[in-house]
Amino acid sequence: MIDLDENTVTDATLAQMATTQDPRLKEIMDAAVRHMHAFAREVNLTPAEWLTGIAFLTQVGKACTDIRQEFILLSDVLGVSAVVNALHDKKAEELGTQSSLLGPFFRESAPVLPLGANIVSSFTAAEIAMYGQVTDMHGKPIPNALVQVWQTNEAGWYDVQAHDDGSMDMRGNFLTDANGNYYFRTVRPLGYSIPMDGPTGRLVKMQGRHGMRPSHIHMLITANGYRELVSALYFGNDPNIGSDTVFGVSASLVVEAKDHADCPIPGLKSVRYDFRMPAASDTDTGRVGADPAALMKAAE
Ligand code: BEZ
Ligand code: FE
Repeated sequence: MIDLDENTVTDATLAQMATTQDPRLKEIMDAAVRHMHAFAREVNLTPAEWLTGIAFLTQVGKACTDIRQEFILLSDVLGVSAVVNALHDKKAEELGTQSSLLGPFFRESAPVLPLGANIVSSFTAAEIAMYGQVTDMHGKPIPNALVQVWQTNEAGWYDVQAHDDGSMDMRGNFLTDANGNYYFRTVRPLGYSIPMDGPTGRLVKMQGRHGMRPSHIHMLITANGYRELVSALYFGNDPNIGSDTVFGVSASLVVEAKDHADCPIPGLKSVRYDFRMPAASDTDTGRVGADPAALMKAAE
């Protein structure tokens, strides 16, 4: 019989788990156990604190519904989703456009709109144009790439928050033309707060954080033979550009609307952004996020 203490229990746990058949499950659980034990030792975790943590995670689970994934939100505000995104980018054989969070507001089957359409049904702010080219890593245009875009309106609401009837708005799907070009009209979205009324929001408030995301437009681009790209473009003049509460902003994704002579929609301030798609080197999804309803179903 070994005499277990706070250090030797780690090796004892790893030894019991050594019979795990799936090598990747073994690698992940071994590391999780080593890091969790080290964490408990580092902070000298008390029984009361341990219980507070268990109660918190229980609340996070109870806050999950078909339209809300509180665990993903927790992962987002703790920066874990951003780490997974960055690792995903590094795993590609070629470094393409940087990934960013999918977030909870992506919806499947948004309408396919003609190039140049406005994705916002009602607005008072000035229209802007978004345009650019989807290419491979050598600049070869990718025609027929599906560019799915979604954003908040000028007041900071996604369609599911702004419309009770479930109608789709501030989103649309575009197919690139023969030269890989995409272009559409929209208005500059307003930055917004992540949902603060649950356990994750309470934690964020206790940490003295603002909970805001800077103004951004999400893009999910797919094309045969290329890695799925989940990204977003961030407007640089947003006051929270340097303190995104979910760490989605990278310098390479920051844009501003200005005058461009070559914009296919003349007369509007525009954002030009070209997306570079690495070749499909693996079958992994690029989505650090998921439809909450699908996750609830999987948990049944
Ligand atoms: C979003 O960009 O839509 C988002 C991402 C993470 C948490 C909340 C919202
Ligand atoms: Fe968003």
